[in-house]
Amino acid sequence: MTVTCRKATEQDIETLYDIIQGYAEQGIMLPRTRETLAEQIDTFVVAVIDDQFVGCGSLTRLGQDLVEIRSLGVTEGHKGLGIGNIIVDFLVEEARQQGIPKVMALTYAVNFFERNGFSVVQKEIFPEKVWRDCIHCKKQDCCDEIAVLKMVNPIGVAASSN
Ligand SMILES: CC(C)(COP(=O)(O)OP(=O)(O)OC[C@H]1O[C@@H](n2cnc3c(N)ncnc32)[C@H](O)[C@@H]1OP(=O)(O)O)[C@@H](O)C(=O)NCCC(=O)NCCS
Repeated sequence: MTVTCRKATEQDIETLYDIIQGYAEQGIMLPRTRETLAEQIDTFVVAVIDDQFVGCGSLTRLGQDLVEIRSLGVTEGHKGLGIGNIIVDFLVEEARQQGIPKVMALTYAVNFFERNGFSVVQKEIFPEKVWRDCIHCKKQDCCDEIAVLKMVNPIGVAASSN
């Protein structure tokens, strides 16, 4: 089984809409309209096996040194096969290539992110996130998602020695 990640294109919008909507209806992902997907398609990646769509994710810029992984999902029949890992690795590498050192997510899948090198952090350390998005969320006063963060060495920046 060879899983490939690639940047999403306009042809992927309907498939992205379906998977995100499915998880949104279960309350584990924020919904995205087709219009939003079209506007932000450059931020999305898709995972495929022999051209069959098996998962997706996106990387949203929140600040000069911070991006957020959003809309991370693997199709029901393909969970637990390491595809989520592959998508996260691809998105983290994308952040590194863009020179961005902090990659965060708000999630219920904490173990999954910890296995991918993320650490649990306080949400309040991300004022960019709170002010830009959370004020529009109906769960803003009772948010139960956990913030996770991974530091990466952006391209052109020497690895830390400690
Ligand atoms: C979370 C998700 C992306 C992981 O992708 P995946 O391809 O199934 O995961 P992988 O096969 O790469 O990794 C599996 C490991 O992650 C862990 N994991 C998967 N989903 C998890 C979840 N919801 N909560 C905690 N841990 C989870 C599993 O325990 C598994 O560990 P194990 O091998 O010790 O059993 C996928 O399960 C999914 O689409 N879930 C629904 C949408 C969602 O919750 N997205 C995250 C929003 S940020």
